[in-house]
Amino acid sequence: MQSTLTLPEPGRLHVAIIMDGNGRWAASRGRPRTAGHRAGARAVRRAVEAAVEIGLGTMTLYAFSSDNWKRPACEVATLLGLLRDYLSEQSGSCLEHGVRLRVVGRRDRLPADLLRAIEAAERLTEGCGRLTLRLAVDYSARDAIVAAASRVGPGGASSPDRESFARLLDPAHPEGGAVPDVDLLIRTGGERRLSDFLLWECAYAEILFLPVMWPDFTRAHLEAALSDFASRERRFGALSRAASA
Ligand code: IPE
Ligand code: IPE
Ligand code: MG
Repeated sequence: MQSTLTLPEPGRLHVAIIMDGNGRWAASRGRPRTAGHRAGARAVRRAVEAAVEIGLGTMTLYAFSSDNWKRPACEVATLLGLLRDYLSEQSGSCLEHGVRLRVVGRRDRLPADLLRAIEAAERLTEGCGRLTLRLAVDYSARDAIVAAASRVGPGGASSPDRESFARLLDPAHPEGGAVPDVDLLIRTGGERRLSDFLLWECAYAEILFLPVMWPDFTRAHLEAALSDFASRERRFGALSRAASA
């Protein structure tokens, strides 16, 4: 499907999404929460396909937060199993479409089968350069910042500035570069909070809270969000174009 959206340089954009509302989507249909997560996984496939077609440079999806371990064990197992299946089933298609997969977050608490799927998908797609798709799994922005701070010092950057510190947030990011700042942060599900997602990278993100539940999220929602983003004036602390003219 051809995009009707005209963005000046989509390849420079980093879009991040807090994919929320799976449980409520299921509850409103009288179905178990796990059915919502399955439908949510289908929405992930649609969103990635759309991101490739629109030509985005980076997309980060919040798949499982470090606080989500507090959920019942069976829900956690379903979520992590869906992630494993997504990585195993979609990595071939990612390779075909030039999508580089990267998983960010802690890895030491993940089940071995998920870890194997992550490593295989990252290896398979490491030469891809069209879209960098980052999945945040067992992710906490505050923990990521603390971990980056612990890399400062002996053998590392001793007095980092913003740029070099940003590189420490995800040292394995392609080409040793810093993860680009988030341009547009979307949260579905109607809640208006960040839930410990990309706190550093979102310093100047434009934020959009959508009432749509994640399993209902389509390419049209992503395009509408990007049109809204394109209409905003980002000032980064300076004056507006009108005021400085
Ligand atoms: C998002 O949906 C999925 C994850 C947090 C992993 P939720 O499961 O949080 O759904 P709601 O917010 O309860 O509707
Ligand atoms: C944030 O959603 C985490 C993910 C979408 C993976 P939550 O549903 O866990 O967040 P809270 O609990 O509403 O803040
Ligand atoms: Mg939620």
